[in-house]
Amino acid sequence: MTDHLKKMYEEYEKKTPGSKERYEAARKVVSAGIGGSAPTYDPYPVFVEKAEGSKVFDVDGNSYLDFNLCWGVLFVGHRHPKLIEGLHDQLNNGTMYGLPYEEILEAGKALTQRFPIEELRFVNSGTEATLYAARLARAYTGKDKLVKIEGAYHGLADYLHISKRPSAGEAGPPKRPSSIPYGAGITDGVVKDTIVAPFNDLESMEGILNEHTGEVAAVIVEPVMMNAGVILPKKGYLKGLRKLTQEHNVLLIFDEVKTGVKLAPGGACEFYGIEPDLVSLAKAIGGGLPLGACGGRKEIMADIGHEGLFGTFSANPLSIRSCRITLTEVLTKSAYKNADTLGKDLMKGYQDIVDDTKLKAVVQGLNSVGGILFSDRPVHNYRDWLATDKKIWHEYWIAMFNEGILSMAYGPEEEWLVSIQHSKEDIQEHLEAFKKVAPKLK
Ligand SMILES: Cc1ncc(COP(=O)(O)O)c(C=O)c1O
Repeated sequence: MTDHLKKMYEEYEKKTPGSKERYEAARKVVSAGIGGSAPTYDPYPVFVEKAEGSKVFDVDGNSYLDFNLCWGVLFVGHRHPKLIEGLHDQLNNGTMYGLPYEEILEAGKALTQRFPIEELRFVNSGTEATLYAARLARAYTGKDKLVKIEGAYHGLADYLHISKRPSAGEAGPPKRPSSIPYGAGITDGVVKDTIVAPFNDLESMEGILNEHTGEVAAVIVEPVMMNAGVILPKKGYLKGLRKLTQEHNVLLIFDEVKTGVKLAPGGACEFYGIEPDLVSLAKAIGGGLPLGACGGRKEIMADIGHEGLFGTFSANPLSIRSCRITLTEVLTKSAYKNADTLGKDLMKGYQDIVDDTKLKAVVQGLNSVGGILFSDRPVHNYRDWLATDKKIWHEYWIAMFNEGILSMAYGPEEEWLVSIQHSKEDIQEHLEAFKKVAPKLK
């Protein structure tokens, strides 16, 4: 441990004794001391008391500017007044019906207007949204294999929980990566049906599709990779992917769980002008409540009932109310403009500080989403990300935390998000903190 990190930990612990105490108690009851939404980190995670607008408050009374926003769920920020009012009203009308109701139509319409999908089904999470897409693709095409991108994350379904974070030793050739299960418990029988391709490499994708002609149901991608930092598609990559999949009679699935309704009102589909065959959505569409959706062309969605794709809590009235208000009343044109402008200011501010301090770091992002990685070259795919310095990233994050800034979701694979409730002053405060922290990271 460096002297700088040791000092940072001392500061962290001095500031958060209440979190430490609760963490020690929680570890005896809930696995690893966390509820289940994310891995823990050293020295221990902070315990939250409440949140409001662009801030969270911990159990010791400290406040933090929140650019994690629950892994990008809270593009609307915390406790948006329109959502609080609407959700109170829905609580008065009931939380579960087990029967359809009118608002599913309004929420569904709001999504089909934003995305190039004809119909959709609601689910509760991103894991389900991609599971539905993979099942529908296999059912529609009658083929077994899926192609996924190395380093991409699509949730927990066994056949997608592959090559999320392979080590350099096990990852295989960069242009033809091995399929490596992410953790134990995934059978060889499942692994053999998932082929792994590098991001931003159409030549490799074409090679894979040629080699497996007639076997592949779908290619699934995060159109902007957001689980290995923020990795933008190179010019023409997504269009090329669309063309290749069509030529090979393979469906294209966009996993827009992280990009959807954030990069643009219609997510990456709108931003890059691409029409995939299926789109998986979650996180920000629920406005802070658990919600996902899987949508596509009518002919692909037609057999969804026969495939048994239902869920007890799917389309529950609180989540649907939250989605409907988020999409029709909160994420307005001017809200996007504001968040995108502030997001660009934040990225530019970081880049200027990196340049001034001559840090070995890259700042990558788009509109309201971005992040910093400690690398001397741009990150275009998982192998580039693998070579970034994770120890310095950890020091950066802890040092920013001590300054009262949750600068990104925890982890060098994550990113920051500027919500529609962040202000110019919030961005300035974030940059002032980074200006202080950056020179100590060398
Ligand atoms: C791109 C992507 N797809 C799917 C998922 C899984 O979503 P959930 O955690 O809601 O199951 C995630 C989660 O981070 C994700 O980033």
